[in-house]
Parts: sequence; C-alpha cells; structure tokens
Amino acid sequence: SKDWNGIEQILLRNPQGASARVSVHGGQVVSWRNERGEELLFTSSKAIFKPPKDIRGGIPICFPQFGNCGSPEQHGFARNKIWVIDENPPQLHPNDSHCKSFIDLLLKPSEEDLKCWPHSFEFRLRVSLSADGDLILISRVRNVNGKPFSFSFAYHTHLSVSDISEVRIEGLETLDYLDSLCQRERFTEQGDAVTFESEIDRVYLNSPSIVAVLDHEKKRTFVIKKEGLPDCVVWNPWEKKSKSMADFGDEEYKQMLCVNGAAIGRPITLKPGEEWTGRLELSVVSSSFCSEQ
Ligand code: BG6
Repeated sequence: SKDWNGIEQILLRNPQGASARVSVHGGQVVSWRNERGEELLFTSSKAIFKPPKDIRGGIPICFPQFGNCGSPEQHGFARNKIWVIDENPPQLHPNDSHCKSFIDLLLKPSEEDLKCWPHSFEFRLRVSLSADGDLILISRVRNVNGKPFSFSFAYHTHLSVSDISEVRIEGLETLDYLDSLCQRERFTEQGDAVTFESEIDRVYLNSPSIVAVLDHEKKRTFVIKKEGLPDCVVWNPWEKKSKSMADFGDEEYKQMLCVNGAAIGRPITLKPGEEWTGRLELSVVSSSFCSEQ
C-alpha cells in the first residue's frame, strides 16, 4: 500500500516480480508490469493525477454507463470516485483461488450519485495478479434497491503498443459493430483482422470470450479473456482527436490501443437482490509462441 499524490495506491506483486498498481481513485488499475519490469498498460505523459477526473491510461471502470447517453457524466461516475478497501470481501471467486496477490475495493453511491442515478448498488471490484503475472479484474454489481435497474459497463483498457500501424486484433472480424463516429450506427465488418490507419471508435457486439491483440514489432500478443462481457470496444483517437485532448500527447496515439471488455449493446438489468459479474483476464504471450499454436 502506497500513497501517491495523497491518493492511496495498492501495489500487487507476484514472486516472479510482475506487478500491478491499483488506485482507490476510480478503482483504476494504473500500472501492470511483467516480470522484466516492462509496463504493459499505456498511461499518457500528459495525464492529470488529480481527482475527480480519471487518469488518462490504465484501466478506468466505466459504470453505470459507457459513453454519453445524454448524461453529462461520460462513461459514468465510478471512475471519478474514491473507492474504499473492502476488508471483508465475499468468498473467493472459484476461478480466482490460485491468486495470492489481490485487493478488494468497494463502491456504494453517495447522496450526490443517487441524485443523478437513483439506484442503490454495491460494486465490488477484485484486482488480482496471478502466479503467471496475468491481471484479473472481477466486478460484481449488486442491486440493493427496491426496484430493478439497468446499466452498461466497460473496462477501459489502455494497452501499450509499439506502433499502432503494426498492430492487429484477431477475434472481432466478421462481427457487427456500432460505430461511435457515426452516432452508433450499426455496421457489419467484412475484412480480415482489425488493423489501424485512422481514428476508430467502435463497439463490437457479441464478441468471442477471447480476443487477441498482436503487436508485431514487440513480438507480443495480449490475450484478453472475458466473461459476462459480451461486447468489445476498440478505440484509438488518431492524430486529429489526440491534438484536441488536453491530457493526451499529440503523438501518443501511436503507442496506445484501447480494447475494452464491455456490456453495452444490451444493458445489464438487475432485479432487487440480483448480482452481475464481469470478469476480465489479461495475459501476454510472445508472438512466436502464438504462431506455433
Ligand atoms: C472511448 C470512447 O472508449 O473513450 C470514445 O469510445 C471516447 O468515444 C474515449 O472519446 C475517451 O473518453 P474520455 O471520457 O475518457 O475522454
């Protein structure tokens, strides 16, 4: 546990030396390093480390909405709140019992939150680092309200890449997507693997539970496994939009790609007492290993 600009951060380590850092501000993972100490997540050099806004990079949590559905709070308020460390978390998730290094955080709505989103919930987030250095995020949202409510959600995952024009995503080709650059109009993808040559802002619908991001230059593949998260957002602001963002360097779009496990196309509805779980597992393999498979 460490203090950083007055905001508590939790450092997770595994015996091989891989690490992850989680901030109580937003429950945001702000760093994930492999055993060689290489940073695997992107954080902007222009990032502003001052609440309430989340930090440009890492993995902000988008809840109770992804995007801006007429509400001023783009991507929801969870990423801007101070979460508390949950000393008495519920039982271990069965798939997660091998992880020795983890932290549990809890978010409950404040009076102010209830004014803009009048639904009582408990949001439990577990961030774990496995013995292999995989990063696992488990979100559990429980309805503690008298009435049902619906929400959308995303793990806004900023991957660090060598050069965006050398990167491709496998697992999303042929899927329908909503294009956020065209008022979320629905399109059908027909190409091969997703590659990058201009701004992209899409919600791929009903994507497979495993999506791979291949970084040719680094000979590195991110494997994104998701459960309870049917959709996958792909975002890169490219040149023009980068210049318009105060907390993002003009050229940094080349070293960043957002691939977000999400539930957007069909919002999650919880009845009173019901709970939803969304699990994301990020791992890295060398590309030579991938091509042998
Ligand atoms: C992406 C959205 O995931 O997040 C984009 O699809 C948005 O539309 C981007 O511009 C960044 O959002 P924000 O609120 O963090 O600046």
